Amino acid sequence: MTRILAVFLSGLLLCAPALAITKQERRRVDAFAGMALEKSRRIGGYPVNQDTALEGFYNWYTKHRLYRASLNNVGNPWSTSPYSLNTHAFEKEVVSYFAKLYGFPDDKFWGFVTASGTDGNNHGLYFGRKYLLSKSSAPPIVYVSEEAHYSIKKLADVQNLELRLIKAKEMGEMDLKDFEAKLDPSRPVLVVIALGTTFKGAIDDQAAIRDILKAKHKGPQYIHLDAALFGGYLPYVDGDAASLVNHQLQNFDSIAVSGHKFFGSDEPMGIFISTREAFDNLNPFRVAYLNDAVPTISCSRSALAPLKFWWKIRSTPMDKFRAAANGMMRNTDYLVEGLKATGVRSWRNPFSSTVFFERPDETILAKYDLASEESPTLGKLAHFIVMPHVHNKLIDGFIRDMRKWKMRSSQASPR
Ligand SMILES: Cc1ncc(COP(=O)(O)O)c(C=O)c1O
Repeated sequence: MTRILAVFLSGLLLCAPALAITKQERRRVDAFAGMALEKSRRIGGYPVNQDTALEGFYNWYTKHRLYRASLNNVGNPWSTSPYSLNTHAFEKEVVSYFAKLYGFPDDKFWGFVTASGTDGNNHGLYFGRKYLLSKSSAPPIVYVSEEAHYSIKKLADVQNLELRLIKAKEMGEMDLKDFEAKLDPSRPVLVVIALGTTFKGAIDDQAAIRDILKAKHKGPQYIHLDAALFGGYLPYVDGDAASLVNHQLQNFDSIAVSGHKFFGSDEPMGIFISTREAFDNLNPFRVAYLNDAVPTISCSRSALAPLKFWWKIRSTPMDKFRAAANGMMRNTDYLVEGLKATGVRSWRNPFSSTVFFERPDETILAKYDLASEESPTLGKLAHFIVMPHVHNKLIDGFIRDMRKWKMRSSQASPR
């Protein structure tokens, strides 16, 4: 009898819903929060700005207890959605801000706040493919450098697009001779330009790519700019850096930028903008219950991400963005000089805040969350990306660690 009761009670326990977070679980999440905040100050290997500065947003959000509503930006932000709990009005203002920043003429663009840079690239390929198919029945070919972000290769696979990988030069930019050699003049062309590449921060030469297309390809063309990191800060850097992400000067058809990189969103998000012509050729399926066609690939979309992005651009004066972008460039110079003085071999591309160098030991990689790679000519590498939260004190500590490692490794293997 006691046994039957015990089995019955344990069955009840298994079925019972968890009523609250236990003390032990609470300690676990508390420890996680402490660790994340402490570690965020030392992140150097990934292009994520840890100066999120969203206190104002969260104070406002909790004051209104907005977490009690489930918002959703499903649908086209530029048309009326029957699901009114959305932030489309704010999303449109965010897109308009960036359309202006990237030189799209008024009313000649379309865009939305994406889930990430990869989401923006997915739409770049999708819009490009649909645009090219509206001009020619021949299937397009995607051209991208082998050092561009891996998302392009994966997304071309997902969208069943033929991909031609173009060789990259030693410093990471697209090898134009190889591009010219691989260009097929008989098929529509979809070029994805890396600005800059993920590991070495190299910028593909847009003007030279356009010249090759003009001289060697008479058919339909579409250019997508993957500016996940650089597209955030270049518009604010002194000098002519902004021209690299200017639609009117560079003639690209669409651009994808991440919102959690330069802009310091505390979660992944991004922006995608295309020409109005590309959008008009999209020919998406109509969705009657959403009152319109849905041009985005995903149905439900975050409504909070556009709101945070809106908060960020409305509360950050241009001068502050400029100071952050120019500060990144100055601090990168400082890192380059410091590394040179240690005797560590290091490299940096123009307009880039990514410094790559000979790979140190695991302890340093783990301490700063450094990403690593291997180059056939330069050997084993790691990189450090100077984002707005990377100040000179962090760089000094990193250089000290690198100097000690260099001394240890040269003692271990005397020439
Ligand atoms: C050049 C480039 N494109 C795309 C991405 C992917 O961006 P996300 O992480 O926002 O999806 C990255 C990420 O580092 C990148 O460097």
